[in-house]
Amino acid sequence: MEKIGKTDIKHLAEQFGTPLYVYDSNIIKNNYSKLKSAFDSYYPRNTVHYSVKANSNLNILKLFNELGCGADCSSPFELYLANITGFAKDKILYTGNYESIEDLREVSKYNVKINVDDINSFTRLAKIKLPEIISFRINPGIGRGGFEGIVTAGSDAKFGVPYEQAYEAYRTAKDSGVNRFGIHMMTGSNNLEPYYFAEVVDKLMTIAGNVFTKLGIAPEYIDIGGGFGIPYDDDEEELNIDETARLVAETLLEKCKKYHFGEPELKMEPGRYLIGNAGFLISKVTGLKNSYKRFIGIDAGMNVLIRPALYGARHRMKIYAKEDRKNFYYVCGQICENSDIMAAHIYLPEVEEGDILIIQDVGAYGFSMSSNYNNRLRPAEILIKNEKVQLIRARETYEDLLRLMK
Ligand SMILES: Cc1ncc(COP(=O)(O)O)c(C=O)c1O
Repeated sequence: MEKIGKTDIKHLAEQFGTPLYVYDSNIIKNNYSKLKSAFDSYYPRNTVHYSVKANSNLNILKLFNELGCGADCSSPFELYLANITGFAKDKILYTGNYESIEDLREVSKYNVKINVDDINSFTRLAKIKLPEIISFRINPGIGRGGFEGIVTAGSDAKFGVPYEQAYEAYRTAKDSGVNRFGIHMMTGSNNLEPYYFAEVVDKLMTIAGNVFTKLGIAPEYIDIGGGFGIPYDDDEEELNIDETARLVAETLLEKCKKYHFGEPELKMEPGRYLIGNAGFLISKVTGLKNSYKRFIGIDAGMNVLIRPALYGARHRMKIYAKEDRKNFYYVCGQICENSDIMAAHIYLPEVEEGDILIIQDVGAYGFSMSSNYNNRLRPAEILIKNEKVQLIRARETYEDLLRLMK
């Protein structure tokens, strides 16, 4: 691999240094239009809210806003960023969890739709300001993700209102004077199986049908969260988004008819699907070691990309201008933790010190999960847009880290 779009990776590394996050806007645009047009074909009353937590650089948010996408925010600062980017209020959602009074006070100021995580969260919110419309994040009792660490529903999940308590949640809101409602779920990330989305939508709609009918109310929107997956391995197949949209729409329409819900708006909050494969992490090989295993040390460890260390996520890797794979390696960062392994037993070309190693599919949950552990500086970020290379975040400096220490 030598280029991202038409831009030479080595030139980027020389100009901006490593480690370096690089995003290709053409890939982002293509992802958005594939997802949006699939859902437009089968359920036109839909809104896509980009999940800001996946990658919250202002220039990335600006791009999504330009594309006509909305935003889903998970903290007051994400909401602030979405607001200064210029997203229309009715295209912004807020989905937190274990929301503090302070957070809710801040969020209330923006008048955006809120998916509350718990009945107690609603009660806290109602004391600050009764929302015009409210939606509960429901745990429908099932969840699935690409691997265990990214399953966000079911009996082990910390998120949402257990579906057995959904009636109580909506009754509490109704009794408090709210008369407009939505319903929400987010059951897991990186799912590649279209039928799963239909299965879980079916479950949510059955819950909504029972609860809303008993209370004599109807949902204005059904928010199915994100979770649309991307391949992280050459042998994984892409999610068939057209089939996903078709199955989700079919299920929604059938259930809406059954429960006399009319045609509520369908909301989605994808992160990974929109930006995951648009991001590349450019790193430099800092050292090779033949120990009990054959190690490649690079300057991008768990501080820069924590997904492998955090939950065993796998990422494809390439060496600049070398194609023929020859050896199995363990690729590690420079952090003083033995879990700082970026890839275990990966087949790569013969590697030398100074080589450029490219980690793929890091657009989502890459920079946004990075840290300063071991007092390493967070990397710079580059956006390639209309073939122009734009520095969208400067590399951190010692002064940046010192500024807040008293
Ligand atoms: C509430 C909520 N919505 C949406 C997303 C985005 O998920 P994904 O990147 O899998 O689409 C997440 C991710 O954790 C989430 O917590």
